[in-house]
Amino acid sequence: MNKPATTLKIGVLGSGSGSNMGSIVDAIQADRLNVEIRVVLSDVQDAKILERAKQHQIPCQWIDCAPYKTKLDDKAEQDCVQILRQHGVDTVVLAGFMRIVKPGLLQAFPARIINIHPALLPAFPGIHAWKQALDYGAKLAGCTVHFVDQGTDTGPIIIQRPVPILPDDTYESLHARIQVEEHIAYPEALRLLAAGRLRINGRRVEIL
Ligand code: GRF
Repeated sequence: MNKPATTLKIGVLGSGSGSNMGSIVDAIQADRLNVEIRVVLSDVQDAKILERAKQHQIPCQWIDCAPYKTKLDDKAEQDCVQILRQHGVDTVVLAGFMRIVKPGLLQAFPARIINIHPALLPAFPGIHAWKQALDYGAKLAGCTVHFVDQGTDTGPIIIQRPVPILPDDTYESLHARIQVEEHIAYPEALRLLAAGRLRINGRRVEIL
């Protein structure tokens, strides 16, 4: 039997424009999503995601991650965990967060960190996945929402949405079409999680 629906209390981590966070806000405001965004954190001081959070009166904060570029140092990681806990977060949503999540954060939120990746995993993990797909000559791109584990873009897959690669696609046109699908996929994955309809069974995520 499904677990009863609960209100997810999410913390969003992002480094960029925050359009995925915007899609989650839209779904909440349209009463399509049983989720509260408790706090937004960014490793980029002037990231648009922080601006967007302010526009929606969501608490937000910059996390100083110096000196590393690709991961959180121990202090930044502890700060993140502490702030997320202070805001009563039970689920961490990575939305364009450009740093590797380390064991400290993973252990603080076991099986409760999810990510969106702009490719059909396991193809094209890592950065600029849509560029990788176009350069490779793939015919199909897309996006993947997955649970986060210790690897880079390797955790159990929740939802995928395909996007055909067109002959005249550029990096920009392809990424724009992938983002349209991301903005459907992320709210949908959160809806299933909030409804208690996701069960991790080894590598598989069963949708109940
Ligand atoms: C998205 O394409 C996401 O898949 C990737 O980074 C981008 C973030 O976009 N991980 P936004 O900041 O949500 O607009």
